Amino acid sequence: MCAIEVTPVVSTERLVLRGPVRSDADALVALAGDFNVAGMTANLPHPYAASDAEAFLDRMARQDFVRDATFSVEHRHFGLVGMLGFRTQANGRPNLGYWLGRPYWNRGYATEAVRGALAWVKRDWRAKVVEAAHFTDNPASGQVLVKAGFLYTGDIERQPCLARGEDVPARRMVWLA
Ligand SMILES: CC(C)(COP(=O)(O)OP(=O)(O)OC[C@H]1O[C@@H](n2cnc3c(N)ncnc32)[C@H](O)[C@@H]1OP(=O)(O)O)[C@@H](O)C(=O)NCCC(=O)NCCS
Repeated sequence: MCAIEVTPVVSTERLVLRGPVRSDADALVALAGDFNVAGMTANLPHPYAASDAEAFLDRMARQDFVRDATFSVEHRHFGLVGMLGFRTQANGRPNLGYWLGRPYWNRGYATEAVRGALAWVKRDWRAKVVEAAHFTDNPASGQVLVKAGFLYTGDIERQPCLARGEDVPARRMVWLA
């Protein structure tokens, strides 16, 4: 008997969130290679080489969408504009992370992607609570999360930032389904 694996797809007004594929590599290198992007994320290395994209896409080809769900965020006309993902933490709650390439900032895409993804994780994973955090020097991300319905917990903790090579204070946030 054959097992058919289907990666989920989330459609919003202007975007499609779908499983990463090998042909995303060039756009990933171009967009994630910007320090202004990587330096606001926990896990993007800087500089970001073609081998980083290939290693990432290798991992993504094996991802288990039941516990970890990373989506390529694709604009219907512009192609790949960023990435978004949920990772199940030790406490059982999904943690949300995302980034968009700089040419696509300030057009509402992150907010639209996060809203679509939250509807998916509520329905598909039956998540009741989703956690997120943004570095204190990244108010734009805080604004995205607030617009999508997250609340500040009041906790600030230092979290690692691979691209900066140091721990950076981050504000913790929570979303209740
Ligand atoms: C943060 C990020 C995802 C925002 O993406 P985006 O598509 O530009 O977000 P949106 O357009 O949906 O919303 C951005 C909001 O931030 C606001 N904003 C932008 N710069 C800001 C700043 N310096 N201070 C406060 N708010 C700011 C915008 O005005 C907008 O809010 P509004 O709609 O109420 O006016 C994008 O800049 C990014 O990928 N940055 C690098 C990686 C990153 O930060 N990832 C998140 C890690 S927690």
